[in-house]
Formats: sequence, C-alpha cells, structure tokens
Amino acid sequence: MQATAIAHPNVALIKYWGKQDVATNLPAVGSLSLTLGGLATRTTVSFAADLERDELVINGALDAGALSRVTRCLDMLRLRAGVEHRARVTSANDFPTGAGLASSASGYAALVTAAAAALQADISADELDLIARIGSGSAPRSLHAGIVLLEKTADVTGMKCRSVAAPDDWPLSVIVAVTTRQPKDVSSTGGMESSRKTSPCYQAWVDTHPADLTAALDRVERRDFESLAEISEHSCLKMHAVAMSSVPALVYWSGATVACMQRIRELRKAGVPVFFTIDAGPQLKAVCLPEAASQVHEALAELPGVVDVLDSNLGYGAQTES
Ligand code: DP6
Repeated sequence: MQATAIAHPNVALIKYWGKQDVATNLPAVGSLSLTLGGLATRTTVSFAADLERDELVINGALDAGALSRVTRCLDMLRLRAGVEHRARVTSANDFPTGAGLASSASGYAALVTAAAAALQADISADELDLIARIGSGSAPRSLHAGIVLLEKTADVTGMKCRSVAAPDDWPLSVIVAVTTRQPKDVSSTGGMESSRKTSPCYQAWVDTHPADLTAALDRVERRDFESLAEISEHSCLKMHAVAMSSVPALVYWSGATVACMQRIRELRKAGVPVFFTIDAGPQLKAVCLPEAASQVHEALAELPGVVDVLDSNLGYGAQTES
C-alpha cells in the first residue's frame, strides 16, 4: 500500500486571501493560477498495519507542525477506502519550503494523489480537490494543469476547480526571484484570519474580487497579455493592501521585493511583456511571454538582495509516479 506522486506549486494571478469557512477551509473568493512545471514536490505515502500514528517527514526532518492537517486529509481518504492503517508520508521539495513559494499547495496535492493511489481508492477528481482543500485552500489548483480556475459555487461543496488552458495552449514563463530562503513569520492561514477580522479593506476585497476574476478569465481566453498584466498586478497589490491594513500589519515584502517590483514595472514600460505577482512571502514571481524570459531572469538576478532566480514554465497537475 505505497505510492509516490509529483505535484508542482502554483502561483495565483487573481489571489485567494480569506476563508468563508475555516472548518472546511472554503476560500471566501475564487482564484486563477498558473501551475509551475519547473518546481516540484515528490511525496511517497505508505500505509502500514504496524504504524501507531501517521508520520510526516518533510525534506528529511520530522514535521509535527503540519501533521494534524495531513492526518485530516488521510482520514477522509481512509474513510472512503475503508482502510484504518496509519501512514508514513515522506515529502521533499526541490525549492525553498514555507517562504511563499506555495510548498503547501504542491505538498497537499502530492499527498492526496499518492495516498489515493496507495489506497487504490476510486475517488473522482472533484472529490480529490475537496480533500486537498482541507490541507490548503490553494492545493486543489496544483491538482490541475496550466492555467487553473478555482471558482466559488452555490452547491454544498462551495467550489469547483478546473484547468482553463493546458500548458501548451498559452505558453507562459514564470521567473521567481528568491530574496530569502527563510520560512515566513506569519502563515497564510493566520494572516488571512487576521485580515478577515481586522482589515477595514477586507470586505471591499471580497466585494470587488468577482469582477477581477471574470476580467482575468476573459483576457486568458483572448490571450491578451497586456491587459492580464494590469489585472493581475492589481489583484496582487489589493491583496497586500488588505494584509498591510490588518492589525497587526502583515508586511510580507522585503526591500528586495520592492526593488524587483520596480524593475518589472520599468521593463513593462519599456515594452517587455512581463508583470509581477507576490504571495505571502518576500519572493517575487515575474510572469512573462517565453521570448522575454532570459531578459527578465538577468534583470532580476543583478538586483541586490536577490539570492537566487528560478525559471519555470507551465506544468501539469499532480500525477503518480510509475
Ligand atoms: C497568498 O493556500 O497557503 O498564496 O488555505 O490557509 O493553507 P491556506 O492558505 P494558502 O494561501 C495561499 C494564499 C496566497 C494567494 C494564492 O495563492 O491565491
């Protein structure tokens, strides 16, 4: 009863920030993301009768912090498969963990994919999305390929996640400027709840979000990069405005993050097809057309405070390794 799966992190252009229901981790808003084929999480799950409890090893070290969420996902799968065995989960990322590179999204996507395969459970893609969501609100997106929409629905599940463009339908490059390898101080989960409770901008964020999502989807359908750039940067900066106006303030950026933002805006003004987005951490992700990738990489690499630059294209959803 063992299987291994590979999943890629994702980066949202139209951001998820805030939960409608904390217990089931239902996002308050939809989101639109890119699955990053260049970065990967590889997870092996083995169920065994002699284990007394679930065990989680991330990048070679036992991880107690994430274990309860992992167990919740595994419990749902065990229930579906009619199996009671505990599991040993071994996961490794080939990119910095916990620093705003969506390691939780790829981690839970790989976890549920490997666990479902190990249990040989007959689980639909929609159900797997819901189980991954228990782990992390952005994890269902890493189960899908290319450009991915997570939309809110009125039914009991509250959401539906699907690919709206395969990796080759609209090839985009994502260049990640790593400004620190340290894990962040405040988790997304904690930050979102704080924003919901304390930011005077939170309700405006929720109210204006559907229009951003509709506009971005339309630009993806029309392959209108220039307009998608404006809407995506707006969604990113609006999310950070909500975070910054929370009490206490959540400032996820470093000086290097701001320097990267300014460089990307200069490049776009000069006609280079590129825009930025930033999650709950100091790394900046530059999204560009493939012909601009090397220029964007070089421009970010020469900025002080940028410790590494990673290149990615769009990738596939989580898959088991044969
Ligand atoms: C800023 O999915 O990590 O990256 O659901 O609490 O696990 P939890 O949060 P998570 O939040 C992602 C937030 C974001 C924006 C985004 O990816 O949409």
